[in-house]
Amino acid sequence: MSRSAILSSSIAKKYWMAATGLFLCLFLVGHLLGNLQLILKTGEEGRRAFNEYAYFMGHNIFIKVLSYATYISILFHAADGIMLAVQNRQARPVKYAYNNPSANSSGMARQMAVLGTAILVFIVIHMANFWWKVKVSSEPFPVHTYVISSTDQMGMAKTDTLYYTHTPSLQPVPVNPMIVVKNGTELYFKEVNVKVGDTYKDLHKIVMAFFGKSVNGAPVNEYALFAVVLYVLAMAVLSFHLMHGFSSAFQSLGLNHKKYMPGIKLFGKIFAIVVPTAFAIIPILIFLSK
Ligand code: HEM
Repeated sequence: MSRSAILSSSIAKKYWMAATGLFLCLFLVGHLLGNLQLILKTGEEGRRAFNEYAYFMGHNIFIKVLSYATYISILFHAADGIMLAVQNRQARPVKYAYNNPSANSSGMARQMAVLGTAILVFIVIHMANFWWKVKVSSEPFPVHTYVISSTDQMGMAKTDTLYYTHTPSLQPVPVNPMIVVKNGTELYFKEVNVKVGDTYKDLHKIVMAFFGKSVNGAPVNEYALFAVVLYVLAMAVLSFHLMHGFSSAFQSLGLNHKKYMPGIKLFGKIFAIVVPTAFAIIPILIFLSK
């Protein structure tokens, strides 16, 4: 088979869709485990855990490579899916007299294409909500600061606002006009341009505010309820897409051994329910916990 045939034949497209689809399922599991920290730990502890996780994800070279593989997989999976749906349509120019999707596989393919397109739209909106702001936009992003209460030498109550720093051995760095933040997370002495240490981007605060919960009095998204409903609906669509997609990926890859297929189908159905439901619970709980 020539190189172009490897990429363009209908069988090759199904193969690539299956491979990228299964890779994206792995991404979903990793992404879910990271995001669950938004609800499993609360208060300052939860905020630290999530911001440390986001920092690690943004700075680890292996994770960066995986991120690029994810973007490429999303684009490949979507493009192949759209081309397959178009090819299916062209191969059967006369529409079924009875348009019964359950009775023909091209009906299922069309349904998968519609669900997949809806998920792609969700991913674009979702990345604009968070990923764009934290990774691409030049708009200033909040950094992680926290307030401690203590008493001064005279016994008077006082509060200090400190940067939460990445370097454990570093003394707490107070927020003051002498310290400036550069390159998103680096703290510098303003006058002498000497680096003090690294802080964290406060992605936790942004996600919480987006779904309607204020952290330390920060303003929240006034359309939070709409955002929660959108995310829950998108997870329902994702569930339907995975319900068929997971096991059919194994078939496309030729891994459909008679002995293992019932187990794979069952696992696929459980995966299609558990993963999107767990994702959907996150914005609901954040919204309700305000
Ligand atoms: C309620 C559930 C979800 C929450 C709270 C959430 C939160 C986030 C956040 C905060 C980021 C930015 C992370 C960063 O760039 O450091 C992100 C990135 C991303 N999310 Fe989600 N997400 C959710 C569900 C999903 C789902 C269901 C999908 C896919 C269908 C998805 C796909 C992505 C992708 C592709 C990225 C970019 C990842 C990267 O740069 O490596 N997310 N998400």
